[in-house]
Amino acid sequence: MMIEWTGRFDTGIAEVDRDHRRLVDLINQLDGIISDGGDLGRVGAVVDALVDYADYHFQREERILESVGYDGAGAHAEIHARFGHVLGDMVGVCMLHPDRENLLRLGDYLKSWLTDHILVEDMKFAALLRDRIPPHG
Ligand SMILES: [Fe+2]
Repeated sequence: MMIEWTGRFDTGIAEVDRDHRRLVDLINQLDGIISDGGDLGRVGAVVDALVDYADYHFQREERILESVGYDGAGAHAEIHARFGHVLGDMVGVCMLHPDRENLLRLGDYLKSWLTDHILVEDMKFAALLRDRIPPHG
């Protein structure tokens, strides 16, 4: 099942929300490809794009957190890094054994990690930062 974007995901920080929408879009694309039978070329292309974009987004988010002196900046960056390791491991398993079970596990992990991360961890800084970052674009 795809992630349906609703207002509960909005942090109110424009560039963070834009990134999150892009990540949700990529995860949903992956979900669709897996549902369609999991063509490996297409899975690989979307997973590569997702890994790159997640990296880019995490760096942006961590820069914002540091720039405003957020207390939990270091812990938050660690959560991002842990996710990167787990994701790397799961992608590795999928490369070696690209069966449906592993692809579904990867898709489910991505969906639950990102939604939980936004709703729990990102929301911790969202309320704090909303008023401190000038809105743009
Ligand atoms: Fe985050």
